[in-house]
Amino acid sequence: MTVQNSAAKNETLGPDSVVGVIGAGTMGVGIAQVAAASGHSVLLFDVIPDAASTALIRMAGGLDQQVEKGRMTPEQRDALLANIQVIDTLLQMAPAQLVIEAVVERLEVKQQIFSELECICGAQVILASNTSSISLTAIGSGLQRPQQLVGMHFFNPAPVMKLVEVISGLETDPQVAEHIYQLAECWGKRAVHARSTPGFIVNRVARPFYAEALRVLQEGGADIATIDALLKGAGGFRMGPFELMDLIGHDINYAVTCSVFAAYYQDPRFQPSLIQQELVSAGHLGRKSERGFYDYRPGAERLPIKLADPQSAPDRISIEGDLNAIAGLIARFELAGIEVCTVQADDQDSGKNDGALIRAGSALLVLCNGELSSARAARSGERNVIQFDLALDYATATQMALAPADQADAGSIELAVGLFQAAGFGVSVIDDIPGMVVMRTVCMLANEGFDAVNQRVCSEAAVDIAMQSGVNYPQGPLSWARSLGLSYCLGVLDSLAAVYGEDRYRASPLLRRQALSDVVVLRTTSTGETL
Ligand code: NAI
Repeated sequence: MTVQNSAAKNETLGPDSVVGVIGAGTMGVGIAQVAAASGHSVLLFDVIPDAASTALIRMAGGLDQQVEKGRMTPEQRDALLANIQVIDTLLQMAPAQLVIEAVVERLEVKQQIFSELECICGAQVILASNTSSISLTAIGSGLQRPQQLVGMHFFNPAPVMKLVEVISGLETDPQVAEHIYQLAECWGKRAVHARSTPGFIVNRVARPFYAEALRVLQEGGADIATIDALLKGAGGFRMGPFELMDLIGHDINYAVTCSVFAAYYQDPRFQPSLIQQELVSAGHLGRKSERGFYDYRPGAERLPIKLADPQSAPDRISIEGDLNAIAGLIARFELAGIEVCTVQADDQDSGKNDGALIRAGSALLVLCNGELSSARAARSGERNVIQFDLALDYATATQMALAPADQADAGSIELAVGLFQAAGFGVSVIDDIPGMVVMRTVCMLANEGFDAVNQRVCSEAAVDIAMQSGVNYPQGPLSWARSLGLSYCLGVLDSLAAVYGEDRYRASPLLRRQALSDVVVLRTTSTGETL
């Protein structure tokens, strides 16, 4: 591979450099706006005559609104628009030092465009593709200078979303990728490096967010609105998975899942859901067709969240185990006037959540660990085991799921419900499914993140940055797993794998390895039984 003079390339991407954008659709126009806002002269081209000038008029309308809201001055708007020039032929891209392609997602179209650009633009030009699913190595395969091709993957809407994944194909010159990384940061974005692999970072690591919710739904563990409410109210996610899939469109979300599944040679971890396939077959594509998981037709009733009826709270409870992990919960119980007796565990300082347990009368509440509540009850001889779900922050969470063992009696379940209700939670009693809802989602997201790192797709920091700035996760999945305790996270996955007997839940070798540094402490009840 010919390594180009990197200093020369660096100079080409200064603020005076000319940026070309090909494709004036949803993404191209947004990217052109981002580059123009940073002061670059932008050349915008679309194969459909007038498409680029029409898009520019639409962009001007959007900028007018920004001015009205006081988010930009009229001078900034005028300067931004003056920086963009619509061109009629690809030949006019000649002065560009960087060309970003955002055309239809078809390999041969992208290859053709880049081959032409190699003849039209100077030898130093950097060629970037905004592709979300095509291999950069494949796009670059027919080029004379594949080392100058790089992925620059923006998120929709490009002017708003912070993340840019900088993707290196097999031939991409690392210095070219670094220049694009620096440029994206200069444009006010958060950039991350990733190797060209199916789904890159975000579209790969995010799969379990949808997949686990679909799985719980398919098994009747909980209903659509309740799962969404739990992931928002306990998990801290901005949108629930079903709301989000409805917004993205099931055709698109299902296609991405299928393409990642196929690209990883049918790895069961990426298996698409039959429920989503049915929606696509029915044409229920989400908001855009007014029907998806929810019904958006005028007058349609919103699906209700299944909340437990109000119950009385116990007067007193005792809590033992890792009190740090549920400190926020204890304070809430106390605020509700419940007497809390804490039993300090010897391993308090382990820093890991090795499973707090709360005794409320006959009920024994335990943090979900990936097993069935019924199995924990059978093993410990404590018939009234009720698992509660993971929360991003127990001090502020608004929703909580409880999964009673099959053996639990009605009175114990009512006490558990009353306890969490008194602390201000909306409580949903769900079926006894392993890993509950938030816990299995977070552990599977972290597992996928660890596997991406293990396969040298990106760094650990890149996973967390990508998921927080690309899809607004409340915490990076890897740092979330670390605060939960890697051994705990691994235990949840191993339990899921044991219950389901499926390869889908196999733990990443990197998670398994790093969890070895964690202290594993089995929680026992005060009477000595292992839970
Ligand atoms: P779009 O359909 O809104 O726009 C594509 C534009 O490219 C159209 O205006 C079309 O006329 C033009 N075009 C097609 N062939 C062309 C050619 N040979 N030369 C010049 N212009 C041509 O598509 P969208 O959504 O903007 O996607 C563009 C690219 O960005 C795709 O590769 C997609 O995978 C990627 N992407 C899309 C995201 C999204 O949320 N829509 C997010 C991130 C990446």
